[in-house]
Amino acid sequence: MSIAVTTPTGQIGSRVVERLLGAGAETAVLVRDPARLPAAVRGRVAVHPGDLADVRALRAALRGARALFLVVPPFMGTDDWAEAQRAVGRAAAEAVRAEGVERVVLVSSAGAQRDDLLAISRLGEVERMLADAAPHVLSLRAGFFFENFLGGVPTVADHGAIYLTLRPERRLAMVATRDIGDAAADALLGGGWTGFRVRGVHGPADLSPTDVAEALTSALGRPVRYVQVDAAAARQGLLQAGASAHVADEYPRLFHALGTLDYQAEPRTPETTTPTTIAEWARAVLVPAVAAAGERVSAAM
Ligand SMILES: NC(=O)c1ccc[n+]([C@@H]2O[C@H](COP(=O)([O-])OP(=O)(O)OC[C@H]3O[C@@H](n4cnc5c(N)ncnc54)[C@H](OP(=O)(O)O)[C@@H]3O)[C@@H](O)[C@H]2O)c1
Repeated sequence: MSIAVTTPTGQIGSRVVERLLGAGAETAVLVRDPARLPAAVRGRVAVHPGDLADVRALRAALRGARALFLVVPPFMGTDDWAEAQRAVGRAAAEAVRAEGVERVVLVSSAGAQRDDLLAISRLGEVERMLADAAPHVLSLRAGFFFENFLGGVPTVADHGAIYLTLRPERRLAMVATRDIGDAAADALLGGGWTGFRVRGVHGPADLSPTDVAEALTSALGRPVRYVQVDAAAARQGLLQAGASAHVADEYPRLFHALGTLDYQAEPRTPETTTPTTIAEWARAVLVPAVAAAGERVSAAM
């Protein structure tokens, strides 16, 4: 029986596919555009073209599957973020039920149990939809992704600064998407967990934006400052990065909630503490991205 993977072209999904293929697991993927899969992957997985909100496409990918790996995409361009997220949850739950899939691993978020964290709370709704549909559901409540700082690559390359609305000293669980993919792959390959389970995925330490700026400074060998901006500036940045007006309105509200509410991730334990440090991530991922951005700027001049 296969393991069905959604978002195989995404940061986490691509790592899950790599790990499953490395372990010799029969793997099926649901992908909007199969041409976006690396050629080495395309030939080794069962490819099911389709959208995540399409129950028929999901059912085709899940036929004969023993487990589903599900990511609810970021939907940066949507005009109705809540409905886009819920539509994925509804379609996945319906397809899981119809195909009798036993296990689901969902990428959720720290704070998903709360009802006041907007897009994060809606991942909690997706958790509940899946818990009603499959006997065994593992919700990986991930911390703030290191990869969110890739949005700051142009400003780091241009003038050595990263911008967010979070207070400089606000510490959050932060994690590399690679570690989330590894946690998911381990759970999919290992099984063994029963019922509805929640597991934090937290990275090695809680970090503040100031901590991140220090790590980026060391990795790049030149200063990176953290600058706290207000919601209006954050909105402008999101619009420039291609977000819809609706998402650009909601994100600063979400960040305000993350920064001000007494919000905590799941308790940190050895199981939730994953290995990749911000320093390792910065050297492996951010430094090459900044170098490429710098080369693009030089080439354009
Ligand atoms: N950012 C954070 O700090 C954070 C924290 C906790 C949890 N999360 C969760 O993690 C998610 C992001 O995971 P990620 O970084 O791995 O994603 P990602 O790299 O942004 O990739 C998004 C994936 O979704 C696919 N996709 C988008 N819309 C789709 C649709 N309608 N139907 C099918 N596939 C679709 C994309 O495929 P294409 O190749 O077709 O574009 C791509 O594979 C967030 O949306 C959220 O649910 C995020």
